[in-house]
Amino acid sequence: MAKTVSHPLFARLYPRINAYTEAHGSLEHRRELLEGVRGRVVEIGAGTGANFRHYGPGAEQVIAVEPEPRLRALAERAAEAVSVPVNVLPGRAEEMPVEDGSADVVVVSLVLCTIADVPAALAEAARVLKPTGELRFYEHVRSRNPGFFRWQRLLNPLWRRLGGGCHLTRDTERAITEAGFTIERVRHFDFLINERAHPASPSIIGVARPPVRWAG
Ligand SMILES: C[S@@+](CC[C@H](N)C(=O)[O-])C[C@H]1O[C@@H](n2cnc3c(N)ncnc32)[C@H](O)[C@@H]1O
Repeated sequence: MAKTVSHPLFARLYPRINAYTEAHGSLEHRRELLEGVRGRVVEIGAGTGANFRHYGPGAEQVIAVEPEPRLRALAERAAEAVSVPVNVLPGRAEEMPVEDGSADVVVVSLVLCTIADVPAALAEAARVLKPTGELRFYEHVRSRNPGFFRWQRLLNPLWRRLGGGCHLTRDTERAITEAGFTIERVRHFDFLINERAHPASPSIIGVARPPVRWAG
């Protein structure tokens, strides 16, 4: 499987989109996502490295996997500006260059909406996590409001084309559970910008524990 994905237009736009959403609240969501993270971290689809500055002193090392070359270059630059050691690697969520059972924390933020094969990505997250590890997630998801969900479904084809493959309609909490994780806590909220809903407003932030692996 190729280690790269190429979304040149999205990769050009994303730093600006991210700066805008961070100025309107997602910075706070990133802090909430990463609060108290400890040990060896694997971050999947790290994008520009926007999370790196939110890792506290408990994070010993971050392996950041990012398949898009332009975004990966930005992540490499972001890695140089923080005190936690961050290794930025090419690779895809579905096949990560990370050893089995080696991570205390796997982080996904605004990425399970985009990854082509979510069950494979979550199986990889489970593979690399220690049995005592945790999955931290911050994702925009399909709305639980049927009227809003209809709107998301209508917009989804265009959104995917402009958003580097991002889906508005994924039930990510369910996907995490179906992959065998146990949700320890989850906060559902609408991320409003200037007090208004947008297609990617319905969101979740939470922590899940990996599936139990039986020896033998
Ligand atoms: C909306 S951006 C989010 C970036 C970052 N996680 C953040 O919080 O800002 C989606 C990211 O998913 C990455 N991506 C797309 N397909 C992927 C895959 N198969 N495996 C890993 N990352 C992927 C993209 O390159 C991009 O960096």
